[in-house]
Amino acid sequence: MNEIRRGTLQTETFYEQVGGEETFTRLVRRFYEGVAEDPELRAMYPEEDLGPAEERLRLFLIQYWGGPTTYSERRGHPRLRMRHAPFTVDRAAHDAWLRHMRAAVDDLGLSEEHEHTLWSYLTYAAASMVNTADPE
Ligand code: HEM
Repeated sequence: MNEIRRGTLQTETFYEQVGGEETFTRLVRRFYEGVAEDPELRAMYPEEDLGPAEERLRLFLIQYWGGPTTYSERRGHPRLRMRHAPFTVDRAAHDAWLRHMRAAVDDLGLSEEHEHTLWSYLTYAAASMVNTADPE
């Protein structure tokens, strides 16, 4: 539809392909519903209101996938590993985070290819956020 503009071939970003802002809003809302109902994971989030954390993750993912760069305008460079350093991200936290994200991704009803792309990134990113090893 909007692939051809001014005579040049422009490819849509992943953000556009999966439905833009609405899709990421739904993803992150569903994810945080899961967090809210998971006492162990919920306890990691310092703020009483999960709304601001939801908005940060939402804006980050929108920016990462080629949407507006509001995240960096508000928060600067993502430096996600550094931002997670104050939290104990161990195997259990990693698994819980991905479990809620999996449910949220499933609810989107994306095409198989888009779902695979998104899920590959999320599992890779979650693994790279682990900063606390389990005892031997
Ligand atoms: C592996 C398990 C993970 C755990 C347990 C975890 C936990 C947390 C916690 C407790 C916060 C602070 C909440 C806040 O105040 O914003 C946070 C922030 C954040 N997380 Fe994670 N996270 C995980 C993985 C990820 C992954 C994989 C991503 C990206 C794909 C991500 C993106 C973010 C972002 C963007 C923020 C807000 C950063 C900021 O601007 O301050 N997290 N995370």
